[in-house]
Amino acid sequence: MNVLVTGGAGYIGSLTTLCLMQAGLNPVLLDNFSNSQPQVLDCLEQLAGRRPVCVTGDVRDLALLEQTLVEHSIDAVIHFAGLKAVGESVRQPLAYYDNNVQGSLVLLEAMRRQGVRTLVFSSSATVYAEASEMPLREDARLGPSSPYGRSKWMVEQMLQDLARSEPGWSLTALRYFNPVGAHPSGTIGEDPRGVPNNLMPYIAQVAVGRREALHVFGNDYPTPDGTGVRDYIHVQDLARGHLLACQQGHGRDGFHVYNLGRGQGLSVLEMLKAFELACGRELPFVIEPRRSGDLAAYWADASRAEDELGWKAELGVDAMCADSWRWQASHPMGYST
Ligand code: NAD
Ligand code: WQD
Repeated sequence: MNVLVTGGAGYIGSLTTLCLMQAGLNPVLLDNFSNSQPQVLDCLEQLAGRRPVCVTGDVRDLALLEQTLVEHSIDAVIHFAGLKAVGESVRQPLAYYDNNVQGSLVLLEAMRRQGVRTLVFSSSATVYAEASEMPLREDARLGPSSPYGRSKWMVEQMLQDLARSEPGWSLTALRYFNPVGAHPSGTIGEDPRGVPNNLMPYIAQVAVGRREALHVFGNDYPTPDGTGVRDYIHVQDLARGHLLACQQGHGRDGFHVYNLGRGQGLSVLEMLKAFELACGRELPFVIEPRRSGDLAAYWADASRAEDELGWKAELGVDAMCADSWRWQASHPMGYST
């Protein structure tokens, strides 16, 4: 199976590419390297024993996409390419609608023209409305609160409409909860530019001495220890979810949506403690006011993915922290070290 992986040089895309290669599929990456480094291709070659084909370009380039689909006889597409910072999307909404919505539209048009009908799309738990009942099921009310979240919701709606328009389309949206961790070898991991927005890369940079202390955003939430609770999922489990969605989606008509999470919430302080165990020392933290837009607690009901895809998260918080630490300790400055 030849699979086009847009955004395949990124954090989740690169580890999914490796998972596809190890399962005997042929991924073809397409990335504009706006948020990734070409060195990841060397790491993939080292781990997989062969170098994946990589096209440097933008998902909004219709001619390039059509040419790539034809030249590589693509059977299915996994679409990761896009921007993902919630705060930035509030300040630059047009960049988010352009990359995420327009990018998906162009990709779908190229697929339609070239007769490629299977797509797996990176959606997010951020599409759910606030104040939903926990755990979140796929049929919970939707209503994202940021331009980033709305861009994901819009694409889901496009996929749903397209699947209804004619038979033959197999379109799957995977709603990730909080992806963390790295490849267990420590060779591939998350390498955010600038100050990390997300909890786990921030803790990892404190552990390696790049940041002084973790800023804990709020300890007055209605949660057991007062800090925010999320459903963290190991990126290796997530990668396997894409492999299954791609293999099982191929030839299965319609629009399908799945939560990918562990179904278990962990607090900021619980994550910090788990990371301290992994890196073997106490990590400094300071309590700050709540971060605007944050919810107190949410986690997934991932039973639909288990029932229909045969997917269940296998790796726990110890593996998430140990692998993340292995990556960070051996690459203190990310891919540039
Ligand atoms: P990432 O930034 O590491 O990877 C995205 C990749 O897409 C990067 O390599 C970037 O260079 C590329 N890219 C961006 N815009 C592009 C464009 N217009 N054309 C071609 N390439 C482009 O992010 P990630 O964490 O691997 O996330 C992958 C996908 O999963 C994104 O769509 C993101 O919104 C979604 N997602 C991520 C998370 C998370 O917490 N990491 C959670 C839910 C959903
Ligand atoms: C987790 C918890 C913070 C950083 C975001 C997106 C979501 C998805 C995943 C893409 C919260 C607390 C964080 C820090 C902290 N991405 N925190 N100090 O906000 O749950 O989800 O990433 O789709 O759409 O919104 O993830 O890792 O930023 O925060 O205390 O320096 O850690 O308040 O409780 P979040 P996160």
